[in-house]
Amino acid sequence: MKEIKKIGVVGAGQMGRGIAQVAAMSAYDVVVYDISAEGLEKGINFIKDQLNRGVDKGKWDASFVSTTMARLSTSTDLKGLSDCDLVVEAATENKKIKFEIFKNLDEAMKPDAILATNTSSISITEIAAVTKRAKLVAGMHFMNPVPVMKLVEGIRGLETTDETFDTVAAVAEKMGKVFVRAEDVPGFAVNRILMPMINEAVYALYEGVASVEDIDTAMKLGTNQPMGPLTLADFIGLDTCLAIMEVLHDGLGDTKYRPCPLLKKYVLAGRLGKKVGRGFYEY
Ligand SMILES: NC(=O)c1ccc[n+]([C@@H]2O[C@H](COP(=O)([O-])OP(=O)(O)OC[C@H]3O[C@@H](n4cnc5c(N)ncnc54)[C@H](O)[C@@H]3O)[C@@H](O)[C@H]2O)c1
Repeated sequence: MKEIKKIGVVGAGQMGRGIAQVAAMSAYDVVVYDISAEGLEKGINFIKDQLNRGVDKGKWDASFVSTTMARLSTSTDLKGLSDCDLVVEAATENKKIKFEIFKNLDEAMKPDAILATNTSSISITEIAAVTKRAKLVAGMHFMNPVPVMKLVEGIRGLETTDETFDTVAAVAEKMGKVFVRAEDVPGFAVNRILMPMINEAVYALYEGVASVEDIDTAMKLGTNQPMGPLTLADFIGLDTCLAIMEVLHDGLGDTKYRPCPLLKKYVLAGRLGKKVGRGFYEY
């Protein structure tokens, strides 16, 4: 297994900042990279707020916040990640963006660095194929919000070696997560099951089966889920939900994965969920 000391995170959005926070809390040195300097600043401030909240709640003391923050640095240049042993990519769920990032990472990183992606649905094998180090590429699918959710779904591309896969499993476990192994098929395990349920909830709304609130209450109280599917969609981001449904639809070719037209309409309207203050609900 490879020794991992320094982790690079690509993307300082909802997921990237969570991954960076948990990595720094687990004693890794962390560099966060984003194309948006404003996004980076927001991400780091968010992490600081989250850590300070932990002090208020008595989870840890102020010195833990300062040591954790001291392990975090940022860069708006991908080369700032070049001495990392592992990179976890958590940029926007879009094939073109991710392929470009992986091509650039492959050039910028030291030859034995592992490149992991937090993609929710894009093929790990296909992402790995844009690099010259497919053996060192794996899926590391964290759940949202990262500091709270216990799962990391590990996905092995066609060429991923045992050493690479065991190393990312060990990193996830050091971060206090449970690592499950899934095959590289559209949606892997979690989103293969979760996204069609969310999409079906949007269809139920679209067809007037019940209101937003009643769909969520029905699923919350009727199936004992901690939150309803439309609230969950808002938390995930409706653009991300749509992108995943499109990958399931294209990759599996079955009409049962057709994204609901209402989901598309919300995305076109810019109602992307909690991150922009408006989705199925207002925040
Ligand atoms: N939101 C979820 O619940 C969830 C859960 C698991 C996995 N994911 C996956 O995590 C990834 C990120 O999702 P998110 O919810 O954090 O999205 P987000 O929109 O909150 O953040 C995306 C970030 O990527 C940055 N970015 C865009 N292009 C970039 C580039 N070329 N280089 C560097 N940074 C770039 C953006 O500036 C932004 O800060 C996606 O692949 C998504 O599928 C999301």
